[in-house]
Amino acid sequence: MTVAMRGDGAPAGIGGDALVVTAFKGELGPVATALDGALRGELSGMIESGEMRGSFGEVTVIPATGGIAARRVAVLGLGDRAVLDSFRLHNAYTLAGMQLRRRRLTRVVLAADTSLAGTAVPDVAALLRAMVTGTLVANHEAGVRKSEPDQAPPIGEIVVGGVDGDAGDSIDTALAEAVLLAESTMRVQHWVSEPSNSLTPTDLAAAVRELCEGTSLSVEVMDRAALEAAGAGALLGIAQGSEQPPVMIIVRHDGGAEGDPRLALVGKGITFDTGGISIKPSLGMEMMKSDMGGGAAVLSAMHAIATLKLPCNVVGIVPTTENMPGGRALKPGDVVRALDGTTIEVVNTDAEGRVVLADGLAMARRAGATHIVDVATLTGAAIVALGHVSAGLMSSDARLAALVQQAAREAGDRFTELPMYPEYDVCLRSEVADVRNWGGREAGTISGGVFIRAFSGGLPWVHLDIAGTSWNNQVSLKDVPSGPTGSPVRTLVWLARLFARD
Ligand code: BES
Ligand code: MN
Ligand code: ZN
Repeated sequence: MTVAMRGDGAPAGIGGDALVVTAFKGELGPVATALDGALRGELSGMIESGEMRGSFGEVTVIPATGGIAARRVAVLGLGDRAVLDSFRLHNAYTLAGMQLRRRRLTRVVLAADTSLAGTAVPDVAALLRAMVTGTLVANHEAGVRKSEPDQAPPIGEIVVGGVDGDAGDSIDTALAEAVLLAESTMRVQHWVSEPSNSLTPTDLAAAVRELCEGTSLSVEVMDRAALEAAGAGALLGIAQGSEQPPVMIIVRHDGGAEGDPRLALVGKGITFDTGGISIKPSLGMEMMKSDMGGGAAVLSAMHAIATLKLPCNVVGIVPTTENMPGGRALKPGDVVRALDGTTIEVVNTDAEGRVVLADGLAMARRAGATHIVDVATLTGAAIVALGHVSAGLMSSDARLAALVQQAAREAGDRFTELPMYPEYDVCLRSEVADVRNWGGREAGTISGGVFIRAFSGGLPWVHLDIAGTSWNNQVSLKDVPSGPTGSPVRTLVWLARLFARD
């Protein structure tokens, strides 16, 4: 894979299979307008006739003429300019990349519309990342095991044109980051789509060891014996019903000084969620192979953070297990003791994510965390509330929440904050233990956050419920590429970068 930048600012002069320019609803973008003459007015004609509408994700391919070096011109519709944000821009380029692959146009020239910098995205660097990362992510293949796979060739080359050549170094940096973020995203997509018999907790730990080999990261995998010795009764409790042993995966990046703040990224790592004894209905249960999406994002982000040599301290923690209804499984009403000593009455074994995260957050505090961000495919209620177009965010600290939101704008993710009014605390009340893991159907997503906050030790904390955004399986939702999204790995990487500067 090569990604290159041409500083001459003239996309028309760059050779390739397709030169990608943009249109908005009913109008051409600035680069398309500039090329219209060389194309004998074809583009404006297609807009005027309504043949091309500029609707979101529309890709119109015409032969290039008039001295344009690429073989084809592809016009990517970005829809309504007023509602374009970095999430939509990323997705538009992924949809374009997918169509170009299908047409075997794999040497791609992307023309930057720098007027989007400062409006849809924060700046030119964020624009380049949305374009390049978005396009490259179209190379993701669901781990297909067909005897005769029918796969389009991957995008093999991207050249970016139309950016002021004076910006030289910073453009090269942005492009290198864009490629790294695409690789990080596709790693999450791969892990999330792997079936649970190919990605057990042991398999995930081995994959992380391999990924981190030769990097500056230190990897610790706590096995069952180590978890027992430490007293991680919450994770061990959920793991009881499975034949697969649980692990707690801990990855450290010590890029800052010893006394500097330490950001903990804690990810839910349920490699399959049957619901346990509170078993789920069979229809659609196969989706629960993706219940480690939060953990996957954390682990892939740690790798990117180390690769970027970010000058901050970050620890990634992923409590990992299956949630199965075996003969030794937890039963509703059972009480477990978390790593920090808190007792938990497990009234619903399908609310397992918050239980394993209890030990994850307790471990984060032991590892010296000063700030905690947890990421989890936690509640179906998050899908009911926000669909697949925004994740839920809850927080005990406005400043950390604002940093996450800023990172999201840089990275092309979306988070919508839900309230944590004190009345919601009733969901925790237990007659027999310090807390219970389920307190009724009301405010399902918020209840999950309220439970996890109880293990944050009063540290600045943000909770991201990505049950909807980690995978788009809403057939009618065409503006978001279908399948695993890799979200929010890019936000986590950018958060570490902002944390380093903060
Ligand atoms: N892993 C699920 C949440 C989920 C559902 C993620 C759909 C992705 C898609 C989680 O462990 C779960 O089962 N949550 C329960 C919580 C309830 C028992 C409080 C739910 O959403 O029904
Ligand atoms: Mn569950
Ligand atoms: Zn789950």
